[in-house]
Amino acid sequence: MALVQRAGSFWNARRTCELSSRGLASYVSYNCKATPPRARECSACIHTEPANANTNANVKAPAGGGGGGSKHLISAKQIELTFAELELKPVQEQVGGCRIRQHVNPLKASLMAPVKTPNWDEVFTDCSRPLTVDIGCGSGRFVMVLAKRNSAENFLGIDVRERLVDRAKQWAEELDLTNIHFVTTNATVHLDTLLASYPGPLAYVTILCPDPHFKQRHHKRRVVQKQLVDTIIRHLAPKGKLFIQSDVKEVAIDMRKQFDEHLGLTLVRSSSAPCDSEGWVVDNPLGLPSEREVHVLTQGGRIYRTLYERA
Ligand SMILES: C[S@@+](CC[C@H](N)C(=O)[O-])C[C@H]1O[C@@H](n2cnc3c(N)ncnc32)[C@H](O)[C@@H]1O
Repeated sequence: MALVQRAGSFWNARRTCELSSRGLASYVSYNCKATPPRARECSACIHTEPANANTNANVKAPAGGGGGGSKHLISAKQIELTFAELELKPVQEQVGGCRIRQHVNPLKASLMAPVKTPNWDEVFTDCSRPLTVDIGCGSGRFVMVLAKRNSAENFLGIDVRERLVDRAKQWAEELDLTNIHFVTTNATVHLDTLLASYPGPLAYVTILCPDPHFKQRHHKRRVVQKQLVDTIIRHLAPKGKLFIQSDVKEVAIDMRKQFDEHLGLTLVRSSSAPCDSEGWVVDNPLGLPSEREVHVLTQGGRIYRTLYERA
């Protein structure tokens, strides 16, 4: 009980920093709807899933299919609104004159090569502070907002797409954020090395809408593998939290199954977040939607969330 209360206060501290922009209320209100589109697109990623891929059997695609032109524009606008507090220039699909590739194979040789551990003393003003890691951070705006709102903590965004990471680093510099860092690497393989060198506690991990890699033969490319689960379990500090979510139910179930292996041992499901009858957390516990989440909710889809705490 005491543990739950302590974990609750960790959570409450974060809640005080919740998004207050007008946009979020409308995003969250979408959470009750269950009509994910069949073709999934966003400015950060495009998922085109087979018609039978979503296990939400009674879900129908909206008329005209998902990801259509005007809907896409609406979700792009909503994404801009969500991260408006960063006051960044409108996001282009190009970085340095080159279009950002929608997908990168995380198993390609350069991403499997040993990661260079940052000199944390140089990267952060105070590297003894609690660390939040966003795995598969995409454009990095989500974790940047968290960093801006929580200046007494450190934040690390990891992604396999180097151009996105470079742009995120540039943005962080423009914003004068000294409590955030970005690394291009395969988090599944290299998170352990990065965390082993970090001097402070690992307080929070987010894995938000990871690439689904629908084909069976590509499941090995999914970010949540036993190796990543073991790494997180090994490093998460007492009372630390792990928040995972996906807009693809099959992927959410797969991730949950892997972390549930540790239930009652090192992890508990957080009692601070109300769940639906299937155990999915109803509202985003950070009060800040990820980019992909905004896109999916704007299009009438839903998000399957689980929140764990380190026992
Ligand atoms: C669908 S996007 C979601 C981005 C963001 N989390 C969101 O919710 O908007 C998934 C991201 O994970 C990245 N990614 C995929 N595999 C990865 C891996 N093994 N390590 C780190 N990042 C990975 C992709 O490049 C992509 O930016």
